[in-house]
Amino acid sequence: MTAQVSGGLGVGIVGSGFIADFHTRSFRGVRDADIVAVSGRTPSSVQRVCDLARDLRVGDPTGYSDVRDLVRDPAVDAVWITTPNHVRVETVRAIVEEVRSGNATLRGIAIEKPLGRTAAEAQEVLKLVEGAGLLHGYLENQVFAPGVTRAHELVWSRGAAASGTPYLARCAEEHSGPHSAWFWQGVKQGGGVLNDMMCHSVEAARFLLTPPGTPASEWLTPVSVDATIASLKWSRPSYADELVRRYGAEVDYRRAPSEDYARATMIFRNGDGDEVVAEGTTSWSYVGAGLRLSFELLGPEYAMSVNSLDTEAKVFLSREIAGKPGEDLVEKQNAEGGLMPVLPDEAGAYGYTEENRHMVQRFLDGTAPAESLHDGLAVTRLLMAAYLSAQEGRRVDLSDTSALDAFVPDVALGTWNPRA
Ligand SMILES: NC(=O)c1ccc[n+]([C@@H]2O[C@H](COP(=O)([O-])OP(=O)(O)OC[C@H]3O[C@@H](n4cnc5c(N)ncnc54)[C@H](O)[C@@H]3O)[C@@H](O)[C@H]2O)c1
Repeated sequence: MTAQVSGGLGVGIVGSGFIADFHTRSFRGVRDADIVAVSGRTPSSVQRVCDLARDLRVGDPTGYSDVRDLVRDPAVDAVWITTPNHVRVETVRAIVEEVRSGNATLRGIAIEKPLGRTAAEAQEVLKLVEGAGLLHGYLENQVFAPGVTRAHELVWSRGAAASGTPYLARCAEEHSGPHSAWFWQGVKQGGGVLNDMMCHSVEAARFLLTPPGTPASEWLTPVSVDATIASLKWSRPSYADELVRRYGAEVDYRRAPSEDYARATMIFRNGDGDEVVAEGTTSWSYVGAGLRLSFELLGPEYAMSVNSLDTEAKVFLSREIAGKPGEDLVEKQNAEGGLMPVLPDEAGAYGYTEENRHMVQRFLDGTAPAESLHDGLAVTRLLMAAYLSAQEGRRVDLSDTSALDAFVPDVALGTWNPRA
């Protein structure tokens, strides 16, 4: 049993899957908070996350099957929402109803990316949370990743201060495909890799192009977006069959594929009045050692770059060793032999630890997190504009992104035909 820090924040994690695990691991580096409750649909996965929290001594959580029971637990001061995209709105609505009816008292709510499957959903989430008077944080870990934040600080303080503001951010996230069936289903997830991973790259690029301490939406005015999506790998017949083998007939890429490749070029006007460019590339069709995150920021006399697979630690395993498949070296690991990168603290490197430290501090202080649901909505609107651009094969004007609030991408409707 781990005693809760006096005056600390009691955190309830809603959802008990892959990302709940990452958050739990990250709390080893977060002070003044304990994980006091976990809820989920599957009792064994709730138990697994509770056991992990106890093993790591980051809390002694109570497991719940119903989110309403979790928020009614008086030990819960704030919730982290980690349920899948298609239940995001109903999860938030249930929590807000408990708060508004006086059954639950919360200081804040932190919500995983993407905020919604459409801009309308993201807006609904924001409206519900603000209507209940809760502090809110958008869980975009990459803008808290230490490599990104430190290099960002340095290029702005040394490079931009001396030679002018940065003009080009390039951000990419690639791996060989997600780990649960619902991610692959356009209707449930809200799209394919553009919705799932471009949300990271767009927010990372907005962060990099903005001076430290300034909200991105104050510094950057969206101008236009030009995007492409494609199904490069997973709608090939043998790979479509592989998805059916893994997940059953509900993931049918012969009939209803989602994009496994997306790129977007977004133009913004910055606070100096200059045009600046954000390039995002994301794919579920990258087979390298594992998850690859990359970030670049270029300015007049400087550049920064981060690549998550350029690790300081590596292991080499010869062909004499037949290794068991695992993800013990790196997330979305694709091989168990040869020269492999090793990320010793993935929760730290990807930004979860600093993200959660920030959210906890702000909720305890009673102040708004730097990354809020307003950012989540801004990102969702940019993603919808990117889908529209890809769908219609044209550059989309971003001077009024709220015009996109009624838009639902073909991929999210399950009607996308990559060959049309
Ligand atoms: N920040 C990141 O890098 C990152 C990484 C992975 C996932 N995510 C986000 O976190 C969320 C969850 O992703 P995940 O990878 O943990 O998914 P997952 O499939 O691994 O786990 C989802 C959890 O929700 C539960 N669940 C599934 N269907 C449900 C339903 N209909 N009602 C209630 N609960 C249900 C499952 O039992 C499981 O506990 C998603 O929004 C995803 O986009 C973020």
